[in-house]
Amino acid sequence: MAELPGDLSAALDEALSGADPAALSRSVQKLIHRYRDGFDPAERMVLASAADVAAYAAYRMPATYAAVVAALERSAELLPGFSPRTHVDVGAGTGAAVWAAAEVWPSIAETTVLEQAPEAISFGRRLAGRADSPAVRDARWRRTVIAGPVRRPAADLVTMAYVLGELPPQVRADAVRSLAAGSGLVVLVEPGTPAGYERIAAARDLLIELGLSVVAPCPHDRACPVPRGQDWCHFAERLNRTALHRRIKVGTLGFEDEKFCYVAAARGARARAAGRVVRRPVRRKGLVSLRLCTEADGMADATVSKRQGEAYRAARKTEWGAPWPPLPRGGS
Ligand SMILES: C[S@@+](CC[C@H](N)C(=O)[O-])C[C@H]1O[C@@H](n2cnc3c(N)ncnc32)[C@H](O)[C@@H]1O
Repeated sequence: MAELPGDLSAALDEALSGADPAALSRSVQKLIHRYRDGFDPAERMVLASAADVAAYAAYRMPATYAAVVAALERSAELLPGFSPRTHVDVGAGTGAAVWAAAEVWPSIAETTVLEQAPEAISFGRRLAGRADSPAVRDARWRRTVIAGPVRRPAADLVTMAYVLGELPPQVRADAVRSLAAGSGLVVLVEPGTPAGYERIAAARDLLIELGLSVVAPCPHDRACPVPRGQDWCHFAERLNRTALHRRIKVGTLGFEDEKFCYVAAARGARARAAGRVVRRPVRRKGLVSLRLCTEADGMADATVSKRQGEAYRAARKTEWGAPWPPLPRGGS
């Protein structure tokens, strides 16, 4: 179960302590409808008012944080020597990916945050001021409206989470191209829906065309073997809901599963995972069934039985999203 780090959780509690739960709940419902019914990028900003931003921070930020941490951790396990010093986050909202990157790579010392919505910048800055990490606390927040290539400093790590879908379709390719230039690792995250997957798949094709190779989740740079229109590659992170979250969002469960799609790509050859678990493993007595994306056979099903000893013990422990077979200890 994913948890928010203590400093982020305390910063959110403090920033939201004065908010009226009923008003927050109304703003959350408005945001849910805008995202669910399809967001028209030609519309004005989604996070236009302070109320919209507070609602976003309360009901979405913990989930986007958990998804970004998962995508970055899956990338980090394949890049054991990668120790980024500089990070640029594009379309940062209230800063979920800024906190996530600092959590996964404490080596980050300089962070630049690009975002169009002034209210999101001011809320994100206020949260960041409470961070233990100096890279988060001292991040430079810049108001930027992406309308083509993103103007940004070169960086070892560039992230863009839950943004592609808000960009006009004709701007997306230019934006992705500009993220690939002058960066070490590029990580894009989108909602785990068929539409989110299509955007990630298109960005993946573009990054490969530009000479980058996929670090995660794909164990290859070939065409994505997921049968288009019938399935989509996505992952999920389970996270605890806070008491405030349960009050403002309809739904009584103490947890939620955040579904997300992602691609991480970098220049240069490197070792890869042979395959990746792309569905929740099914465990039965003496058997574990895994749906895998593999370098050799595309999508493949594997059944690991108790007779396989060590492989079976590993399969009992493996998770949706993990490399398979497990990477040697210490990385790829
Ligand atoms: C769904 S939020 C994601 C925020 C954050 N990255 C996260 O994962 O929680 C999308 C963000 O992208 C920003 N955004 C959308 N279109 C943009 C544009 N053209 N230029 C700059 N930022 C943009 C929005 O203002 C919003 O903060």
